[in-house]
Amino acid sequence: MSQVSKIKLCNITKKFVTSEMETHALQGIDLEIFAGDYVSISGPSGCGKSTLLAILGLLDTASSGQYFIGDLDVSNLSINQRASVRNEHIGFVFQSFNLIDELSVFDNIALPLRYRHVPLSDKAVAEKVSACLEKVQMSHRAKHKPNQLSGGQQQRIAIARALVNDPAVLLVDEPTGNLDSKNGDAVMQMLGELNKNGTTICMVTHDPRYADMAKRKLYLLDGVMADELSLELAV
Ligand SMILES: Nc1ncnc2c1ncn2[C@@H]1O[C@H](COP(=O)(O)OP(=O)(O)OP(=O)(O)O)[C@@H](O)[C@H]1O
Ligand SMILES: [Mg+2]
Repeated sequence: MSQVSKIKLCNITKKFVTSEMETHALQGIDLEIFAGDYVSISGPSGCGKSTLLAILGLLDTASSGQYFIGDLDVSNLSINQRASVRNEHIGFVFQSFNLIDELSVFDNIALPLRYRHVPLSDKAVAEKVSACLEKVQMSHRAKHKPNQLSGGQQQRIAIARALVNDPAVLLVDEPTGNLDSKNGDAVMQMLGELNKNGTTICMVTHDPRYADMAKRKLYLLDGVMADELSLELAV
């Protein structure tokens, strides 16, 4: 397990400036996610959910505010430092899986391990990949290519890849958005089981049924954390 006990955002803002307009996508977000948490983030389209997740995942930087992973202040890292912290501490699951079709399931999951500062032996890589394949119940498919799998199976492989470096948090953006309801339900059940076994999860979802599966439900409205009532009034 990751050694990080908490990640924390303090007064995070994000402004997008284009030639036509300024968008204040996040307007002062405070958020703490503790080891073992299962947090869902919901809210209307355009309220800033993906922007928030991208900042948590160190895929984008905030315009202002601070971000801590454990005691490490990651607010102002260089691109290279960010990539390295991301690889060590963050697991990101995209709506569209983002697997590499030319690589086997095994090699897709092993990919984050290849970017570690201290390389692992082939044996250690095989052990970690096998453990993650087991977690997502896909051990029998290690040699397949992603395009030989169903959407739900591909998403399970993407989750295994995100878990392979024992991240502090698993960030998932609409993990069921490209799945039919049966596969979507199976992926959600899997996330629930992973959380029961200790994985920290922060998930963006439109689906209230899926948001209800989280231990803690958060709502975003126009870039601000809202409570459920104000969200209901707004939509
Ligand atoms: N790269 C960008 N340049 C300019 N504006 C952007 C950019 N990315 C996002 N935005 C704007 O920031 C706001 C928040 O976008 P974001 O993608 O975070 O919304 P969301 O809550 O994830 O929406 P959805 O539910 O539709 O996925 C939107 O108004 C969007 O148009
Ligand atoms: Mg989004």
